[in-house]
Amino acid sequence: MTLIAPSILSADFARLGEEVARVEAAGADWIHVDVMDGHFVPNITIGAPVVKALRAVTKLPIDVHLMISEPDRYLADFAEAGSDYITVHQEACHHLQRTLSHIRSLGKKAGVALNPATSEETLRYVLADIDLVLVMSVNPGFGGQKFLDTVLDKIDNLRRMFDEAGHKDVHISVDGGINSDTGKLVVDKGADVLVAGNFIYKAKDINQAVKDLKTKSEEKIKASR
Ligand code: DX5
Ligand code: ZN
Repeated sequence: MTLIAPSILSADFARLGEEVARVEAAGADWIHVDVMDGHFVPNITIGAPVVKALRAVTKLPIDVHLMISEPDRYLADFAEAGSDYITVHQEACHHLQRTLSHIRSLGKKAGVALNPATSEETLRYVLADIDLVLVMSVNPGFGGQKFLDTVLDKIDNLRRMFDEAGHKDVHISVDGGINSDTGKLVVDKGADVLVAGNFIYKAKDINQAVKDLKTKSEEKIKASR
């Protein structure tokens, strides 16, 4: 089953609670929260207090994507705020295994994100510490960018690496430029979570957008078997 994680980066920040309720009613599975620090990426967004506020208005898992330098300094804050998945960038961690263990020690699912230029091989020796890989299909920092299809081989390789290591439950999520066409491509390669900002929040019919992402990507799975 493909999980849909709308990115609230494309939502109306003045009505965030309602924007979350809208995607929840449309059938979304997770809420994806993009945290940017103006240092790791050239943009600043929101922090742990917003996660805490959202925790009070949704039952869905909150999937926090930390696009920040030195993420270890903030893990406890995001855990306390009520995150379910906490994802750090491989490129932002000096001691990735330590950081991933730290996230699990806080009782949270540990995620690691890979920029488009970062190889999946950087994860080979930490496979057992990972609950989720967030494959970036754009350079992080902004919503509404074009999908980079070089991620397709990366997803394929990652799914094989986890399968060969016997880790069948790891999520592979893809973030950036996801629509019903690109979503289908990445699910076919082994992704099971689709993050989408503009495709959902800028859609004329938000219910239809969530449904399209889910059903079209699943059709492809059936057809390819
Ligand atoms: C990019 C963010 C994404 C982004 C996705 O830096 O991590 O979550 O908001 O937006 P779309 O789906 O519009 O590319
Ligand atoms: Zn994101």
